Amino acid sequence: MKKFISIFSILTLFFITSQSQAQNISIIPKPVKLELSEGVFTFSDQTKIWIPNTTEMEKLGSIITQSVNMLTGLSLNVTSKMTREIPASLVRVVIDSTYQNKEAYSLSINPNEIRIIAGNGAGIFYAIQSLLQLFPVNETNNLNVPCLKIEDFPRFKWRGTHLDVSRHFFPVDFIKKYIDILAMYKINTFHWHLTDDQGWRIEIKAYPKLTEIGAWRKEMIDNDKPYGGFYTQDQIREVVDYAKSKYITIVPEIEMPGHSLAALASYPEYSCTGGPFDVGNLWGIIEDVYCAGNDTTFYFLQDILTEVMDLFPSEYIHVGGDEVPKIRWQNCDKCQSRMQSENLKDEHELQSYFIQRIEKFVNSKGRKIIGWDEILEGGLAPNAAVMSWRGTEGGIAAAKMKHNVVMSPGTHCYFDHYQGLSGEPKAIGGFTPLEKVYSYEPVPDVLNEEEAKYIMGAQANMWSEYYETTTHVEYMLLPRLCALSEVIWSPRESKNINDFLNRMSYHYDLLAVKNINYRIPTPTNLGGEYLINESEVFQLNGPTSNSKIFYTLDGSEPTTNSSLYSEPFVFDKPALLKAKTFLPNGKNSITSTVQFSIIDTTENGLYYKYYEGEWDSIPKFWELRPERKGKIYKMNLNEIKNSDDNFGIDFYGFIEIEEDGVYTFYLTSDDGSNLYIDNKIVVNNDGQHSNQEASGKIELDSGRYPFRVFYFEKRGGQNLTVEFEGPGITRQTIPAGYFFLSN
Ligand code: ACM
Ligand code: ZN
Repeated sequence: MKKFISIFSILTLFFITSQSQAQNISIIPKPVKLELSEGVFTFSDQTKIWIPNTTEMEKLGSIITQSVNMLTGLSLNVTSKMTREIPASLVRVVIDSTYQNKEAYSLSINPNEIRIIAGNGAGIFYAIQSLLQLFPVNETNNLNVPCLKIEDFPRFKWRGTHLDVSRHFFPVDFIKKYIDILAMYKINTFHWHLTDDQGWRIEIKAYPKLTEIGAWRKEMIDNDKPYGGFYTQDQIREVVDYAKSKYITIVPEIEMPGHSLAALASYPEYSCTGGPFDVGNLWGIIEDVYCAGNDTTFYFLQDILTEVMDLFPSEYIHVGGDEVPKIRWQNCDKCQSRMQSENLKDEHELQSYFIQRIEKFVNSKGRKIIGWDEILEGGLAPNAAVMSWRGTEGGIAAAKMKHNVVMSPGTHCYFDHYQGLSGEPKAIGGFTPLEKVYSYEPVPDVLNEEEAKYIMGAQANMWSEYYETTTHVEYMLLPRLCALSEVIWSPRESKNINDFLNRMSYHYDLLAVKNINYRIPTPTNLGGEYLINESEVFQLNGPTSNSKIFYTLDGSEPTTNSSLYSEPFVFDKPALLKAKTFLPNGKNSITSTVQFSIIDTTENGLYYKYYEGEWDSIPKFWELRPERKGKIYKMNLNEIKNSDDNFGIDFYGFIEIEEDGVYTFYLTSDDGSNLYIDNKIVVNNDGQHSNQEASGKIELDSGRYPFRVFYFEKRGGQNLTVEFEGPGITRQTIPAGYFFLSN
């Protein structure tokens, strides 16, 4: 059996410790200002609730009474008739019209009174959300809340979460539950992705075939079984009203001109070729799109948008605009003659014509459009907002052009990406763990103060290709949504990952009691093979101070009877580690599986040369004098750099290719980088930019090849990730054991 030989007894951060009084308050997102004081307020049958005399306020008051009732069985008395004599135990809700920000609130608790003040319902609602997060999660005879004073308001006005109901369909009951989850974390925008190639999900009275045909697809595996579903207009109204009661605006998305195969299967006359088409049953980008040369296409979409705008009162209507292949337009006489008559120089300008024409219509109804960042190509529609998903470049460009922007870059905001590297349910790709979401900063530092004002906020995107069940949707959403909520609500300066993880402890219990599924962080984000040198200390991490980690080294699944992790390890023999997190509420994480191999420090690794200087692109390193040289086993910037800005690194050595075949290399860097194999450039990701991915393919026979990566960092964020995939190798960071110092 493989075993650990020595164990360091060093003090560690295994548990996130230090429970000062203030840290027992677990509100997420963290309030702007919170002062804790002595004592508690105790709910009792004497507690009165005073609220202003409106239906809206009555509904808000009932959120408090229902929660108190569920936890304690108490039935509190709600009234808008205030007496001269102030009750000894009072919850007082006050509207104060001097509050400028309609989402701001104040919550003060002393032993006799809980006082909630806000400018209107939204602020009161958020105060109540914070109050509820001061309640215990389980039933109690003694409902006490700590005395404190909170002053709170959001950093951004667009705090969004999206859901794709096209790739997989989710029923109305779940959409309401989803809205409940968003509301708990003060999300105010639900971006409902209602149409795509694989299903049209909204009833349109003028075009019944959209749902008779477009809502159903033949499943790949079992072709006789149709898959699908749609929402009737009554259901949509019900959901819009429900969201409104939680101060959430629903922004509907009707995709155009691409991602429209379900619509074209229903009405092929609006395509370039005339069809026929089947509703999509494979994921990917489809070449058939709406015909931009045919005026009736626009009348069709305008009729649809008219019904959509009647159903959804949102300021913005999302019109998609992403991933539009141009091949059909290139081969369509109508599209080509449109380009001539409108003097459009290419198909990008034709796409811009398409979106601008739709924008004019939507604007004529007093609404605005928002679209994915491809709507910048060929010219941005004059009043459009941009949702930046292919990184942040589109958002930056739009903000500089004084257009509103919602940031949702794949790197940090795509919750269809993996949350861990071993044992996860199949996901679309990528790696966006909780800590990475938490680290996100929506305002790129290349924007000046004036330009930054155009960043309306950020949102999480939940594409559902790989989620079929509602519990899986919840697993992908949480706890990442908690992290994002803090990114978009709380002041930038107050962010602190350890403090956040500490507060999550309460939320893991709260979500469990509410029957909401979530991912429990695993003891490590590593997976697969991990090369470690003999003296390297390897640490596992519990997500909360009261969680436990159990592990095995014999290949068996960890249980609570396995070894309890207490201290970091040092290995001097290969080992197969399986480890699992167990929460006090009985829930446990999936298993982290890591194969440790011991690196040969005399042979494995890369050389590096470290330079300092300010460059806008990769300099001629070979003409410069390095500050330092050395050997490393992983291309880890933190081990090398002296400062955060103005440096460059040249990594070089050999890479060993085990099997003949085509390999893809991915360079993700902030700022620029280039990768060479066998002295040929394979990936060019040069230039001053924020974190950005580039890739390249190369065919290689087995053997050792010269390998080199040039990297430079100017200012702002810094990152270098070098990944590959090839025969038998799924996309991953290149393990250190592939690198050799000599040929
Ligand atoms: C997108 O993810 N295609 C917007
Ligand atoms: Zn056409």
